[in-house]
Amino acid sequence: EGEQHIEDFAFSFEGPFGTYDQHQLQRGLQVYTEVCSACHGLQYVPLRSLSEDGGPTMSEDQVRAYAAETFEVFDSELDDYRPAVPTDHFPANTAMGAPDLSMMAKSRAGFHGPYGLGLNQLFKGMGGAEYIASLLVGYTGEEKEEAGTLFYENTAFPGGWISMAPPLFDEQVEFADGHANDMRAMAVDVSAFLMWAAEPKMMARKQAGFIGVLFLTILSVLLYLTNKRLWAPVK
Ligand code: HEM
Repeated sequence: EGEQHIEDFAFSFEGPFGTYDQHQLQRGLQVYTEVCSACHGLQYVPLRSLSEDGGPTMSEDQVRAYAAETFEVFDSELDDYRPAVPTDHFPANTAMGAPDLSMMAKSRAGFHGPYGLGLNQLFKGMGGAEYIASLLVGYTGEEKEEAGTLFYENTAFPGGWISMAPPLFDEQVEFADGHANDMRAMAVDVSAFLMWAAEPKMMARKQAGFIGVLFLTILSVLLYLTNKRLWAPVK
């Protein structure tokens, strides 16, 4: 007990050229929809972003159907509930006292630093997705009751005891593409999905960063050569 254990999962979006895996995000959306959404909202994520580039990249028709079939939202103009449309956000869910998951992958860190040389986070990243995946597979099976609440021992949760019951079990979700649906595979997929939800423009950001570095590198070489040439007669 005590030490937090975060596993270093290999996600496709890691590293300077990492990208989201469209199919993994779609499976993660399915896990969120069928399991997590019972307790957790995703209220800052617009449904239409499911069809944007770099994300699950569903077609607009798919998003329209998904929104209408999955969620009811309260419309203040109608003063009534109606099926969701792509311009709505995923609903909030406060019924169970579970935190909203929109920003969760960025508000939690799997890898802490700077310790020692301070390079842990530089090489491994912040580890928000690793934290969530480690949490989902981190249950030991031990339970205890305190002040009328059940707590479950978890090796990734700070303090070691969480009030969320183990949400995933093997073969809970059936994927259309027949992809592996053991607990671990689903944990990784839903964590990737939540990383995308928290940072949908990660790929565009990395690309802009790379072009920036490339441009500055070329500029440095040109300035170096210019400098050499300019001062050559004086030497
Ligand atoms: C907390 C993820 C399903 C109830 C959390 C946290 C995460 C999470 C990341 C925050 C942990 C932290 O504070 O660091 C998920 C995922 C799910 C899922 C990915 C689906 C695979 C559920 C379900 C329920 C639930 C189905 C209700 C039956 C809660 C509650 C908390 C919580 C009550 C607060 C726990 C505490 O602070 O002690 N969940 N969850 N979750 N979740 Fe879930």
